[in-house]
Amino acid sequence: MSQLPFPQSFNLVFFGGAGDLVTRKLLPAMYQCHKTGRLVESGRILCLDLLDLTQEAFLAMVDDKVRQFVPKADWDDAVWATFLSRLTYLKLDATQQEQYVALKTLLKQSPAEVTVFYLSTAPFLFATICSNLTRQGLNGPNSRVVLEKPLGHDLASSNAITSDVDRFFYEKQVYRIDHYLGKESVQNLMALRFGNSLFEPLWRRMWISNVQITIAEDVGIGSRGGFYDKTGALRDMVQNHLLQLLCFVAMEPPASLDSDAIRNEKLKVLECLVPFTREDVLTKTVRGQYRAGVSGGRPVKGYLDEENIPADSKTETFVAIKAEIANWRWAGVPFYLFTGKRLPTRLAEIVVHFHDVPHHIFPLPSSGSRAPSKLVIRLQPDEYIRLYLNAKAPGDSMELQPVSLDLDFSGKFKGRRAEAYERLLLDTIRGNQALFVRQDELELAWRWVEPILNTWAADPSGPKPYAAGTWGPSASSELLSRDGFGWHDEG
Ligand code: BG6
Repeated sequence: MSQLPFPQSFNLVFFGGAGDLVTRKLLPAMYQCHKTGRLVESGRILCLDLLDLTQEAFLAMVDDKVRQFVPKADWDDAVWATFLSRLTYLKLDATQQEQYVALKTLLKQSPAEVTVFYLSTAPFLFATICSNLTRQGLNGPNSRVVLEKPLGHDLASSNAITSDVDRFFYEKQVYRIDHYLGKESVQNLMALRFGNSLFEPLWRRMWISNVQITIAEDVGIGSRGGFYDKTGALRDMVQNHLLQLLCFVAMEPPASLDSDAIRNEKLKVLECLVPFTREDVLTKTVRGQYRAGVSGGRPVKGYLDEENIPADSKTETFVAIKAEIANWRWAGVPFYLFTGKRLPTRLAEIVVHFHDVPHHIFPLPSSGSRAPSKLVIRLQPDEYIRLYLNAKAPGDSMELQPVSLDLDFSGKFKGRRAEAYERLLLDTIRGNQALFVRQDELELAWRWVEPILNTWAADPSGPKPYAAGTWGPSASSELLSRDGFGWHDEG
């Protein structure tokens, strides 16, 4: 987050270098960094994969794919041609130790101040890759390793990945990606909380009644059935993205922007998350699975009819959870976490609901209910902060109506918004770990999620159905209404 100096030269090595993530996200992000002059000239990108491709064939494949994922307005043929000159393809079977000799030779040809190994592969390869790199002497003090999710399937498998990687790399060399942390809007959350004194006195149980954090997606699982069915929404979205957002909302102000200053504060939040008993899981969580419905105006399949999904699958595509944080700031304030596929729209937002006034002097509005103030932090697709307050409606009566103070980031700050992976890749090269998940955070997140996984696995009732294009099972609204709250709805 703080701007460490950029090295004079770097090698960025992608394992899984012809794969989906690299061509869809990582190379487009590096192209944008190149185009906007954020890379040093002596920066090379090596893509390693199993495919038998010549350099020319690889570049042609990359050209074809990356074009689809860079917005037209940002595409420039001349710039693209210069970007391609940074790229080298090497056929490499990551499991074969002798094949790393060719990698070593390539890296020797362009010695760099920093070498980043980005493991965009299945996690079962992490240990082998780290071991093979080390045996070839490629794990020096200026080498870093970037790990992509999923980092485990449960606590034990996550700890196994950690100890596998730990055998070869120090924690200060390990960068665990959660791409939500690279989003401009998530950074803005830090700015809002710690760059203004306005909210700090209010940011606590005395003034806040509940917090709702939502990541909704309108898409289904697409062609990822094989992966998704083993994963489900709890592992795919809650264990990482939603818990990280919760940490940013709930953490104490860090002493500085240092990586560990921030991560220490996030860790304390995870330590204070109230663990779930079996009974809690049954009463404070809701899981759902989409059925056929209508999305974007067209009929769509149900989850069980998607490609590679067993007909009796009990994998959840929707989760709602009432989480609680046991500390002085937050005791008694529910944090409702929601996420799901095939919901009506794509959005991510945090809504902080303030308590109602302690004594009412104004008549109730004609709707019969009054809305306490709330702060809406919309993270995507649009980015804004909206503070809803009650104001007097014009006229003879003293009727109050909610009105909003709006800060629209795209209106205020013109220009392109960098994609999360641009920031995260630059940070791995720069050596800034602030936006990467530390091992102890990862472990605590799994520890908290695991009783939910276990209770669900033992519960034969399975997820509740909901129609695609709706806001999930009705039980999720009951989670709030039982506590006297309602879902925030921007309308
Ligand atoms: C990924 C999940 O981590 O995040 C996907 O594996 C999900 O299932 C994606 O679609 C959502 O990310 P974003 O940035 O589009 O909100």
